[in-house]
Formats: sequence, C-alpha cells, structure tokens
Amino acid sequence: MIKFYIDTTGDVIGRFSAKKWADWINSFVVEKALITVNKHVSIGEELIWLGDIARKMKDGTLAMIIAIDEGKNAIAGTCEVRRDPLYGHNVSFGLAVHKNYRKQGIGTRLLKKGIEVAKDHFKAKNLWIEYIEGSEAAKKLYEKLGFVECCEMPNYVECYGEYRKIIRMAKLD
Ligand SMILES: CC(C)(COP(=O)(O)OP(=O)(O)OC[C@H]1O[C@@H](n2cnc3c(N)ncnc32)[C@H](O)[C@@H]1OP(=O)(O)O)[C@@H](O)C(=O)NCCC(=O)NCCS
Repeated sequence: MIKFYIDTTGDVIGRFSAKKWADWINSFVVEKALITVNKHVSIGEELIWLGDIARKMKDGTLAMIIAIDEGKNAIAGTCEVRRDPLYGHNVSFGLAVHKNYRKQGIGTRLLKKGIEVAKDHFKAKNLWIEYIEGSEAAKKLYEKLGFVECCEMPNYVECYGEYRKIIRMAKLD
C-alpha cells in the first residue's frame, strides 16, 4: 500500500538512511531521467543534501510530500515544495516518481498534495513548476493540474552531455 506523508520537520525523511536516499536519486541517473541531477551521487553528497533539507525545513522554506510503499519500505515518489526565501509568496515544486511506480497516479497525487501545502501551509500566491525539454510525462501532468507555460530558458541545463531548455510553468488560479 502506498501512503502519502507531508513532512515539514524531517521526521519522515529520517525514516530512510542516506544510502537509501542516494539509491533513490541514483535510480533516476541510471535511467537517464530528465531531472537536474544527472551524475551519480555519493553517500557523502547525499548527507550534505539531507543537511540542506533539514536547514530549509527549519527556516520554513521547504516541505516534502513523500509517497512510501509501506509493504516494501521503499520510497515511491517525492514532491519538494519550495518557498522562495526572498519572495515568500512564490512556491515551486520538484516532482519525481520511481520508475517502478509510474503511471499509477502517484505523480498526480503528490503534486495535488504539494499544491495544498503550498496554499495552506506556505500561503502561496504564485505556483511555479519547471520541466526539462523532452519530458512529455511531466508536461502532460502539469498541464492536467492547471499549469500553463510562461517562459522557456534555452540551453539552461546540461543533461548527460547535451544542453537542454527548461520550460517554466505557472498555475494562475
Ligand atoms: C513525470 C512523472 C513524475 C509522472 O509520474 P507518474 O506517477 O507516472 O504520473 P501519473 O501516473 O500521475 O500520470 C499523470 C499524467 O501524466 C501523463 N503521463 C504519465 N506518464 C506519461 C508518459 N510516459 N508519457 C506521456 N504522458 C504521461 C498522463 O497525462 C497522466 O495523466 P492520465 O493518466 O490522466 O493520462 C514521472 O514520470 C517521473 O518521475 N519521471 C522522471 C522524473 C521527471 O521527469 N520529473 C519531473 C520533471 S523535472
């Protein structure tokens, strides 16, 4: 059974070791998924990431929605909800679902919960999300939840040796 948790303190993230979080992100690197991390992450680097997450949660600029496969004690998906530290009325999201759990509606549920947290917890006025060119699944999912394209940033990220544009979308309602 997949359960969805809202983590604003690091308690849920702390259920998994740095090794398990590194394995999680590296599974996307192995499949060459179109996300901004595209190099193998060491456990040391993952520990730095976990420290950064804890600091941002403490500062009130980050929450995470985590989908957990309770039977397997596995991370199925995550949605980072990031409040801009300078302009706090802007909130953006980072969404990822493990390949074994895709096309079951988990990405949709994660982002819907992320939007609720952005509005209720962070009192967001503007909601932003980005995807890397070529990520049709992300584009369709974001459009389905009411995001519309507002700008393109050419050659913005280097993905596995190739520069790609980032498409930024906003949810205006
Ligand atoms: C994008 C991603 C989060 C979608 O997660 P998911 O759990 O498979 O999504 P859902 O099952 O909720 O599907 C939601 C919608 O996305 C679209 N979608 C999902 N997979 C798709 C695919 N392979 N191709 C085209 N559209 C797809 C569909 O429109 C679907 O809606 P529908 O079922 O009503 O038709 C997931 O594929 C992923 O993590 N990919 C790798 C990382 C990534 O691209 N992250 C996002 C951007 S940077």
